Amino acid sequence: MPELFIGLMSGTSLDGIDASLVEFNSTQINPISFEYLPFSSSIKNDIQRLSQPNKPILLTEYGSTDTKLGNLFALAANNLLNKAGVPHSEVTAIGSHGQTIYHAPDRPPAFSLQIGDPNIIAEKTGITTVADFRRRDLAVSGQGAPLVPAFHQAIFSQIFDLTKENISIINIGGIANITYLSANKTTGFDIGPGNTLMDYWISKNLNKSYDSNGAWAKTGTPNSKLVDFFKQDPYFKLTPPKSTGKEYFSQFWFNKKISNFSDCCKKDIQASLCQFTAEAIAEAIQQHAPLTNQTLICGGGAHNEYLMQSIRKHLSHPVSSTAKFGVNPDHVEAMAFAWLAKQTINNLPGNIMEVTGAKAPAILGGIYPGRK
Ligand SMILES: Nc1ncnc2c1ncn2[C@@H]1O[C@H](COP(=O)(O)OP(=O)(O)OP(=O)(O)O)[C@@H](O)[C@H]1O
Ligand SMILES: [Mg+2]
Repeated sequence: MPELFIGLMSGTSLDGIDASLVEFNSTQINPISFEYLPFSSSIKNDIQRLSQPNKPILLTEYGSTDTKLGNLFALAANNLLNKAGVPHSEVTAIGSHGQTIYHAPDRPPAFSLQIGDPNIIAEKTGITTVADFRRRDLAVSGQGAPLVPAFHQAIFSQIFDLTKENISIINIGGIANITYLSANKTTGFDIGPGNTLMDYWISKNLNKSYDSNGAWAKTGTPNSKLVDFFKQDPYFKLTPPKSTGKEYFSQFWFNKKISNFSDCCKKDIQASLCQFTAEAIAEAIQQHAPLTNQTLICGGGAHNEYLMQSIRKHLSHPVSSTAKFGVNPDHVEAMAFAWLAKQTINNLPGNIMEVTGAKAPAILGGIYPGRK
């Protein structure tokens, strides 16, 4: 009997909420409908203020942003169902990732904080809502991230014969992460910055939220010394399991790195960031997934044609957007949280121990019952 789930995702890019309605039957995962709710600059500023590393914040700001986001997630889910013409009663559950405001898996004590009150989502949609996925993995000593590899395994093993092909899936959101799929293992980790630093630099200099198709980066010339300097960061040498966020690859991190390169012009810095992102991705595949014979890219970065070309230059196997195989690159992460909600509702684990470093499989998230 097919079942419907909704996944709600809002990533570190702070662009907005992705909402995906997904049908699961015993063998197939079918995307039914998708809705995108962009963030206003006001809520984006609220989140940015809360997410600044080492800055004090008011609890009133924290609480009100949690409530505002809960309302926005509920709105995204309701808009999605209205658009799809699907009654709320037909949806088994919503999986809401929430908005990460701080991810600190290596800090003693470790924590990871996602907000967007799930009580409001459950009440305003009437649908049982699963949320707060990451902290259960942290509770079994995992990194709490990445959580999407188990879903990548589920959906891409429908498309590829993993006894014949080894596939790397790269999600390029604010942060970039890799999932490696082969016949006998699924691994993955956070690679490093995806779009976050490119977004920051173009926003600071040209007042644009992102570098569309890498057009600005393309006008510059990468400074190889700066690219190498970025790549020398100790994070890239850490052995997985590992995960990271904007708290580490922050504006502070970036401004400190470029302070030694005052002779490098702005567009060359953007070109260097794009090159750095491409090289870090290619090297993650070469070092940790060397048997890959096909790489698929999802997340907003899949639309950055200049970045895609740079990644291709560094790899000898085919690199394409997941779109080539019928999976919309903008929908993958939201679909993952629909799948993770299904796992939880069915009392099944959502983490992969080898990916997050957890000591045990864990049924992820808290369940907020819907209205009957
Ligand atoms: N046409 C485009 N050209 C270049 N970059 C793009 C384009 N479209 C989207 N992007 C980039 O994708 C980003 C949004 O991607 P996405 O929503 O996957 O990231 P995210 O919200 O951080 O998600 P997640 O954390 O789930 O990976 C934008 O901030 C922008 O940098
Ligand atoms: Mg996004």
